[in-house]
Amino acid sequence: MKVGVTGATGQLGRLVIESLKSKVAANSIVALVRNPEKAADLGVEVRAFDYEKPDVAALSGIDKLLLISGNELGQRARQHSNVIEAAKSAGLKVIVYTSLLRADSSSLSLAPEHAATEVAIKASGIGYTILRNGWYTENYTGSVKGAVAAGAFIGSAGDGKIASAARADFAEAAAVVLTTDKYAGQTLELSGDSAYTLAELAAELSAQTGKTIPYQNLPEVEYAKILAGFGIPEGFAQAIASWDASASKGDLYDNAKVLSAIIGRPTTPLAKVVADALAG
Ligand SMILES: NC(=O)c1ccc[n+]([C@@H]2O[C@H](COP(=O)([O-])OP(=O)(O)OC[C@H]3O[C@@H](n4cnc5c(N)ncnc54)[C@H](OP(=O)(O)O)[C@@H]3O)[C@@H](O)[C@H]2O)c1
Repeated sequence: MKVGVTGATGQLGRLVIESLKSKVAANSIVALVRNPEKAADLGVEVRAFDYEKPDVAALSGIDKLLLISGNELGQRARQHSNVIEAAKSAGLKVIVYTSLLRADSSSLSLAPEHAATEVAIKASGIGYTILRNGWYTENYTGSVKGAVAAGAFIGSAGDGKIASAARADFAEAAAVVLTTDKYAGQTLELSGDSAYTLAELAAELSAQTGKTIPYQNLPEVEYAKILAGFGIPEGFAQAIASWDASASKGDLYDNAKVLSAIIGRPTTPLAKVVADALAG
């Protein structure tokens, strides 16, 4: 059985390849990437594959495909449809797709593209498992060094509880799902075992650094302005602030512990991801 992984040169994709290599022979894994030079170190077969113009021949011999959602917001539903069409033409048996927590009801602006892709996968007649990935803890811990320098952690998530998990946890779940038939036809809501508010994240940061770093909650518009002031393009700054506003409504919260059940261990604690971010 051959497993294909798109986006294998991305942050999640690299971790999926690593996890797959610990479960199956490296020669049964194919990295499908738009930039093959970036994939030379993966240690598996590499084929060129772009969501804009996916090559049906690149899918030849692949039984299960992990479609890692792209990162060009607004283009993804169309790009993913291209991939699903190519998979259909190639006679692929199973697509595993990285979607979003409660993609069909979430207020996150990211949700509609994921929901559209889920519909397209189901309509294709190809077997599937949908991985509705919750937030990566790294989305927040990416800014801890800036918060330490500024003396405050800012955001717009209010008291919203965030049940995030490390990228590596989601990657391992994808590798498990790709190497068993146990989850065929399922839509899995994946999240971290424990949840925190941004005030609790700031408290963890304070404890680990020995500095007082309070959480400062800001109105969405003000937070977006500050992010844009850091040089983040305005549209993206507004999107980030809006995701926090969705978090404040509970859209990043879940407590079903499906992710840890799949990977057979607890998800990575917040403290560990914060420590890694401070050390990195
Ligand atoms: N759950 C969450 O919290 C969360 C957060 C951020 C993102 N995401 C989603 O999860 C995905 C994976 O996350 P990540 O952290 O690994 O993101 P990432 O590092 O940005 O990786 C995205 C991958 O998609 C590939 N890609 C983008 N457009 C493509 C195209 N037209 N054709 C072929 N490949 C294309 C990229 O290729 P290159 O390597 O060539 O650039 C990259 O490998 C993201 O793309 C996004 O959809 C989820």
